[in-house]
Amino acid sequence: MKLSVIGCGYLGAVHAAAMASIGHEVVGIDVDESKIASLSQGEAPFFEPGLPEILSDGIASGRLSFTTDMAQADGAEVHFIGVGTPQQKDGYAADMTYVNAAIDALIPHLRPGDIVAGKSTVPVGTAAGLAERLASTGATLVWNPEFLREGFAVKDTVDPDRLVAGVPLGDEGARAADILREVYHPAVAKGTPFIVTDYATAELVKVAANAFLATKISFINAMAEIAEVTGADVTQLADAIGHDARIGRRFLGAGIGFGGGCLPKDIRAFTARAEELGRGESVGFLREVDAINLRRRERAVQLVVDALHGDMFKKNITVLGAAFKPHSDDIRDSPALDVAVRLRGLGAWVTVTDPEALHNAARVHPQLNYVEDRDEALRGADAVIVVTEWDEYRGGLDPEHAAQLVAGRVIVDGRNCLDAAAWRAAGWTYYGMGRP
Ligand code: UGA
Repeated sequence: MKLSVIGCGYLGAVHAAAMASIGHEVVGIDVDESKIASLSQGEAPFFEPGLPEILSDGIASGRLSFTTDMAQADGAEVHFIGVGTPQQKDGYAADMTYVNAAIDALIPHLRPGDIVAGKSTVPVGTAAGLAERLASTGATLVWNPEFLREGFAVKDTVDPDRLVAGVPLGDEGARAADILREVYHPAVAKGTPFIVTDYATAELVKVAANAFLATKISFINAMAEIAEVTGADVTQLADAIGHDARIGRRFLGAGIGFGGGCLPKDIRAFTARAEELGRGESVGFLREVDAINLRRRERAVQLVVDALHGDMFKKNITVLGAAFKPHSDDIRDSPALDVAVRLRGLGAWVTVTDPEALHNAARVHPQLNYVEDRDEALRGADAVIVVTEWDEYRGGLDPEHAAQLVAGRVIVDGRNCLDAAAWRAAGWTYYGMGRP
């Protein structure tokens, strides 16, 4: 099938390349010329395992191209909208500027029968409004939310755990759902759940899923706060409750909390939308989820300050990690970098290392010292804090080896990812998050 993907950021670039990898002819369209130039060369503008390979394969096969020219969308059967919906600069709601601009630019190129498939994360009620705007074109709007995780984005796009299609009523909706089934043919053929529903439900599936995940993380972080005053160990607590299949162990990783381009802004946009709908109290708990999450960054900073007996002056602190999570170079709302910046604000000399995210971090926070080599970064540290659980820092860092490099054997495990006993045995003073 011929497809267009409007917006070539994280979501759009991966979607375009993944769709080409399953046999479609795809054009990716974005207003950002430098992004299009690098994608056209087969270069991913961000770190995502597996993406460079499918980008260059797609381009070499002739099935995948990128352009800034919206006219190239002419003739595609399905047009995916994958532009960003960041948090508004002056509020909690989602900024819909890019979605509206993409729809305006696309409308002149639509033919009757075309499908416009919205993938951006939007406030519930958006799709119904967009469908009205598209009515005169004869195109059909479907809402097809995306559930990809950074670091696993290619796999999550080609082989998702579910597909959701919000469609209009009647034959038009049934036809649109069939076309989406054809788009996602390999996943559909292997029996991936394909949920056909109305617009509002499809929009809500996305924000509800992210709100649930954020709540789960903040729940275990709230338990970490209780563990801290009772001497309990939150990681054992998570293991024990996680054995209950109704609860499950995943996303019960206590630490410095969630960040990134999705969970924080999505829960805020959800509360803002619920308030507009007169149902603010229904998701009022998400404000608490947000507050717990932000408190954990503060806690990690406090652990470092306490470990250094309150004296941060001329202290060298090495921060292991900058990305908001491993397998990503994304620093949007990164708890890791937030902790580094706060430590620097307290007067310490802060050195940050990360396998992938240093170039992004240095652009946004030039006041920090960045060192690519992990061991070089550790040299002379008075305290070390792990804030992104890259393999290089969890199993990959031998506490005996690290002890030879630092000036002071103080380690704060902001992700509860280290073997506390092994670090203590190597002479380190170990502090976890909600662990004795
Ligand atoms: C999230 C969702 O997991 C995806 O399903 C969704 O499609 C995506 O947002 C989106 O809306 O586009 P992502 O932002 O890539 O994906 O990251 P997650 O893997 O969800 O991690 C989010 C944050 O939670 C990270 O900072 C991570 O370190 C933190 N986290 C995760 C914890 O603190 N504890 C955990 O147990 C798990």
